[in-house]
Amino acid sequence: MERHMADLGFDNKVAIITGAGGGLGRQHALELARRGARIVVNDLGGSLDGVGHADGPADQVVAEIEALGGEAIANTDSVATPEGGEAIVASAVEAFGTVDIVINNAGILRDKTFHNMTPELIDAVIDVHLRGAFYTTLPAYKIMREKNYGRIVNTTSNSGLLGNFGQSNYGAAKLGLVGFTRVLANEGAKRNIKVNAIAPVAKTRMTEELFGAAGDLMAPEAISPTVAWLAHEDVPVSGEVFSVAGGYVARYFIGLTEGWFSPGHTVEDVRDNFEAIRDDSNYDIFADPSGELMKLMGLLSPSED
Ligand SMILES: NC(=O)c1ccc[n+]([C@@H]2O[C@H](COP(=O)([O-])OP(=O)(O)OC[C@H]3O[C@@H](n4cnc5c(N)ncnc54)[C@H](O)[C@@H]3O)[C@@H](O)[C@H]2O)c1
Repeated sequence: MERHMADLGFDNKVAIITGAGGGLGRQHALELARRGARIVVNDLGGSLDGVGHADGPADQVVAEIEALGGEAIANTDSVATPEGGEAIVASAVEAFGTVDIVINNAGILRDKTFHNMTPELIDAVIDVHLRGAFYTTLPAYKIMREKNYGRIVNTTSNSGLLGNFGQSNYGAAKLGLVGFTRVLANEGAKRNIKVNAIAPVAKTRMTEELFGAAGDLMAPEAISPTVAWLAHEDVPVSGEVFSVAGGYVARYFIGLTEGWFSPGHTVEDVRDNFEAIRDDSNYDIFADPSGELMKLMGLLSPSED
């Protein structure tokens, strides 16, 4: 593994990557391993809808990393239980002594239009994507707090950010991860723990039917440079979300329109001013709720001068 001195390196960094036995997670693992990180390749090895268990995918990616001259171990625990998350982090500590980076990437799909949703379809998807991120990140975060260093990258989706037909379970879990990202960014700031998210679009087993031939323009390896940058020591931001696909990178943000202010207004006033309320030609982007509170205070109790 040859590297130039100017490259962004990950020497002495330990990274847990969930769902790294295939698809995007495998590419993230290879990218970080090539740059010197020691990797826990976690993958349950089930089907796209989260059924079954196999050691093969995680072992295979470890073999690929070792063939590149990198260091990695396999872990096949499920992210979807507290014990699984604990075991994943324990395997990192046992093999490499610590954890510096968590990339929450494991995922499954169980699509159904909402009127056909069942508790079982809801729970399985929320358990892997949303609870799975909690269960894996929590034990790792405690270690990161202790040592004042951590980088966490979560995987959200435009299915939640924008709303995709047939994916109420998945979309809700994925947008839940944006809230998770922002709260952790806020809480982790004082301890040099940075938490960001990607919303990828790429051809994997999850999307190959959906994209058809267009999928060939969206290689899974095109996602990993952004993930690696967000996992790097030098990353300057926290709490942000990036759209990444086939060589394209952009930032998603939550904006609040300038809005309309009229104390004592009626229902009819809301109707009559609805365009002004919704007008997105001017907007604010707040880092946290105190930003909005300041805006509100400025409107509700303007200073004399
Ligand atoms: N491919 C896309 O266009 C796209 C778009 C938006 C979001 N995503 C997200 O990116 C992530 C990676 O997806 P992908 O496209 O590479 O699909 P993928 O199916 O190839 O990868 C997901 C991996 O997660 C593993 N996994 C599933 N449940 C697990 C569990 N409980 N514990 C541990 N591992 C588990 C699977 O075995 C699989 O290897 C997912 O979170 C997905 O929702 C992908």
